[in-house]
Amino acid sequence: MTDLGSYETAYDKFDWQLARKELGYEDGSPLNIGYYCTDRNCERGLGDTVALIWEDSSGDVRRYTFNDLRIHSNAYASLLADLKIASGERVCIFMDRVPDLYFSFLGILKLGAIAVPLFSAFGEDSLLTRMENSGAAAIFTTRKHVKKVRKIRDRLPQLKHIVVVDGDGMALKEREHAFNVETAPKVESFDVYPATADTPSVLHYTSGTTGQPKGALHVHGSIFQQHLTTKWVLDLKPGDVYWCTADPGWVTGTSYGIIGPWSLGITQVVLEVGFFPARWYGAIENFGVTVWYSAPTAIRLLMREGEATVKKFDLSSLRHICSVGEPLNPEAVIWSEKVYGLPFHDTWWQTETGSIMISNFPGMKIKPGSMGKPFPGVTAAVLGPDYNPVLEPGKAGVLALKPPWPSMFRTYWNNPSTYEAKFKNGWYITGDRARIDKEGYFWFVGRDDDVINTGGHLVSPFEVESALLEHEAVAESAAIGKPDPVNMEVVKAFVALKPGHEPSHDLELNIINFIRKHLSPLAMPQEIEFVKSLPKTRSGKIMRRLLRAQETGEEIGDISTLEDD
Ligand code: PRX
Repeated sequence: MTDLGSYETAYDKFDWQLARKELGYEDGSPLNIGYYCTDRNCERGLGDTVALIWEDSSGDVRRYTFNDLRIHSNAYASLLADLKIASGERVCIFMDRVPDLYFSFLGILKLGAIAVPLFSAFGEDSLLTRMENSGAAAIFTTRKHVKKVRKIRDRLPQLKHIVVVDGDGMALKEREHAFNVETAPKVESFDVYPATADTPSVLHYTSGTTGQPKGALHVHGSIFQQHLTTKWVLDLKPGDVYWCTADPGWVTGTSYGIIGPWSLGITQVVLEVGFFPARWYGAIENFGVTVWYSAPTAIRLLMREGEATVKKFDLSSLRHICSVGEPLNPEAVIWSEKVYGLPFHDTWWQTETGSIMISNFPGMKIKPGSMGKPFPGVTAAVLGPDYNPVLEPGKAGVLALKPPWPSMFRTYWNNPSTYEAKFKNGWYITGDRARIDKEGYFWFVGRDDDVINTGGHLVSPFEVESALLEHEAVAESAAIGKPDPVNMEVVKAFVALKPGHEPSHDLELNIINFIRKHLSPLAMPQEIEFVKSLPKTRSGKIMRRLLRAQETGEEIGDISTLEDD
């Protein structure tokens, strides 16, 4: 239970103004996330408190205080100012989970520019579409990843600067700079950009069914909701050691891997490595992690790893554990209660919502398999085909949210019509289907579109299909999400070959590798089925739902109803 009391009393007495009070924010004064995550903590006497415990891939550990965070983010902000980057310009971050990612993110915000975090495993096509759409003026990257930027830089006329943050001593090309935050002059103070709640802050790309990824634009005012939900859903308190396993290339890694926890002055753990059960449990034990925020695919992999590994570690520091990104199966909740002595608390939200919207509030009865209830201040509903709330408990419909809320995205970058299409009858339409039970608990039913959710990451079938078409052997293709016991879904592609090419195992591997290189390991099909042709509607649209139904053995019924999907 939080200091708001039970979920019911919290919901009743809640007001978003509480966020201002909690953050010590006065109306009319500037509101900059970069300041609230760094300088303000120092002003509150937390300058010497450890902000970041970072373990690199070889197991070495470095610790940075809030004062370090303040000075290093200042250094990044003044570097951008020296490079004549102005407020409102987009600056990409393209690196592994290294400390510079966190310093540069906050530095970009302090300058008033818009941070565009990009997953470091992106291949050149994924990188190009996002950098092109955002019109990025600069990119921060590392030696390891600059090669991919070099391959596409000539197609990015707006890109003025490429900063290699570990590039000391390397041969640089035109527009490239080497920077080293450790040896750069200390920047004791920086004039933080006087942002308001409506000033753009972060641009996160997310996938839809059609078209290329869309950039959900967030604002500095998102911190109000990120702060409150971190406090009341993730239950962070002074003295906690918190670990969010998400990469900041995705929204969880920024909203709850940077902004929320540091706005509260909490110590965070970051691991450079990806999923490794022993390293993960080792980190919990070594750093005394108290609150852990992870995702169902990782939890299922830990279940598969088994209890024997759990027993090798002392995980008694853990106090609260949460999950996001995909449906959390009831077995995972029951298992975690058995082996960790704590149930995973599911939370539901999206890139577009910027913060947690539906969750299992601490202290609330958990119904394993349910996403919980709307956060106080949030109105969520399940809508019928007429876009009015379905009143009958248990009946499935489209999950919708009543705008506005503080961390709501403000547009899709360069794509206002797609943004507007997300609103119907005064509701924001999430793209998910859900049902609400008699006690007001929300249950996830499925997506209402063709987007593939693999291991908590959304992959657009369109993006995969477009990349497949670039392969010399591919005439046409369709990508679907195939059910998978661990990743929920994996990408499966159906491919019709051009004349002169024959199906073979080698060709399958070649195509799979082609997608991994061009898009990312996440978007890479796990399986390719060669077909003569693909089922299409009369207007020529590929019937992905038919392919999906064939895959799962579902009854598809009258396919004429699929014509306009
Ligand atoms: O389909 C839902 C699923 O992930 C989508 C949002 O993905 P993204 O924008 O990448 O953000 C992920 C992290 C916030 C949702 O539309 N999803 C997210 N959380 C859950 C979920 N599905 C079921 N249960 C959840 N708890």
